[in-house]
Amino acid sequence: MVSEQVVRIGMLGCGNVGAAVARLVHDHGDDIALRTGCRLEIARVAVRDVARDRDVPLSPEVFTTDGASIVDDPDIDIVCELLGGIEPARALILRAFANGRSVVTASKELLANNGKELFDASDAAGMDLAFEAAVAGGIPLIAPLKGSLAGERISRILGIVNGTTNYILTQMFEHGSAFDAALAEAQRLGYAEADPTADVEGFDAAAKCAILASIAFNTRVVASDVYREGITKIQAQDIADAKRLGYTVKLLAIAELDDDEVSVRVHPAMVPESHPLASVRDAFNAVFVEGDRIGQLMFYGRGAGGDPTAVAVVGDLAQVARNRVAGTRGIGCTCVYERRIRPMDDTHGQFYLNLHVEDGPGVLAEIADHFGRNGVSIERVWQEGSGDEATLVFITHRTQESAFQKTLQQLRDLPVVRAISSVLRVEGEEG
Ligand SMILES: NC(=O)c1ccc[n+]([C@@H]2O[C@H](COP(=O)([O-])OP(=O)(O)OC[C@H]3O[C@@H](n4cnc5c(N)ncnc54)[C@H](OP(=O)(O)O)[C@@H]3O)[C@@H](O)[C@H]2O)c1
Repeated sequence: MVSEQVVRIGMLGCGNVGAAVARLVHDHGDDIALRTGCRLEIARVAVRDVARDRDVPLSPEVFTTDGASIVDDPDIDIVCELLGGIEPARALILRAFANGRSVVTASKELLANNGKELFDASDAAGMDLAFEAAVAGGIPLIAPLKGSLAGERISRILGIVNGTTNYILTQMFEHGSAFDAALAEAQRLGYAEADPTADVEGFDAAAKCAILASIAFNTRVVASDVYREGITKIQAQDIADAKRLGYTVKLLAIAELDDDEVSVRVHPAMVPESHPLASVRDAFNAVFVEGDRIGQLMFYGRGAGGDPTAVAVVGDLAQVARNRVAGTRGIGCTCVYERRIRPMDDTHGQFYLNLHVEDGPGVLAEIADHFGRNGVSIERVWQEGSGDEATLVFITHRTQESAFQKTLQQLRDLPVVRAISSVLRVEGEEG
């Protein structure tokens, strides 16, 4: 029989994730104690409204509205922050470290904006800061990146890290829905918030991209470093074009390390249907990792929801509890380099372009000339339709962003180009 030590958790927040954590600790407490030697006890919980019915196996006396009293409580061993937003979560976490408590958090927003301050405080206190749930909910990513892949040099991460937008794009792809109709359906099913801005404009994915890049490339990347385009401009026609050409459209978080510089971006992209990310449907998430020696890895699963996210939080609690009992701490901040963030204009990518053009001799040559002058090399080009319906479709080779944008600007001003019907980035061709 393994001797077990009770580790008292002070939980800040008991909403979707917090309530699921309380239920999981209750339901699997014996197993966790057997496996880890630590019995987790949710000893105190801070909420806004103590009178609310929460369907959790906790006695009413553990609830308070005073989060500070929890982080100051000498009987609390670990603080578990599940409030959402920046304040008061940030101030309470810093206070927990000052009081010599380790912290588990699920807040991507906090880590992507205030990560350095939090890690500095955890290092100064010699305490753990664990955050597996902050990126892609229940999918283990932080521990594999920090631990199992510590010996690898990761070169690229391509992730579908926002379930709401993946659900919307799946509806558009599989049912030909317009963006607004797909968003309304996502809201009806509870996948999208009443205010969907953080998801559809890519802010949520950008925060996760910053965290993933920081961990994968060992340098501090913050949310505002990430180039960001959402999915609100994607039309049903773009998706239909992609489908016809053997691609699907995904909102990707992309982090790359090249020549010791990091590039980070979130934007919609056409992904070949043969690529593993193309088969990630509905609200599922997946993160595709490439390394020099390991080649390609893919992590797939439920990126949100109370129960899957609680699994990641409880995993962190069990690990941090073990560390505390052993009088040690896990791997601290791994941002040991100061790598330059490459400006978006200097990054390289492939593009799909659909132009409504005049149908006549010399038109293709005139347009192709602008590509050539800017050093944008064309992988494929073909004409569809004729007369008033004539369109030219291009797929470029990998090219510098600024060169492609300059070409696009010149094509807009060209009399033979009637309209730029569609422009989409292409990713994962080699996958
Ligand atoms: N939901 C997911 O699928 C998911 C996935 C990954 C990560 N996360 C992250 O997990 C965290 C929690 O998310 P959630 O979905 O559980 O949020 P939520 O359902 O809105 O719950 C927030 C909880 O915090 C409490 N709270 C908020 N402000 C407070 C304050 N000033 N003082 C005391 N209590 C306060 C609320 O109290 P009341 O209940 O009384 O209102 C509620 O219990 C967020 O950082 C989120 O980004 C969530």
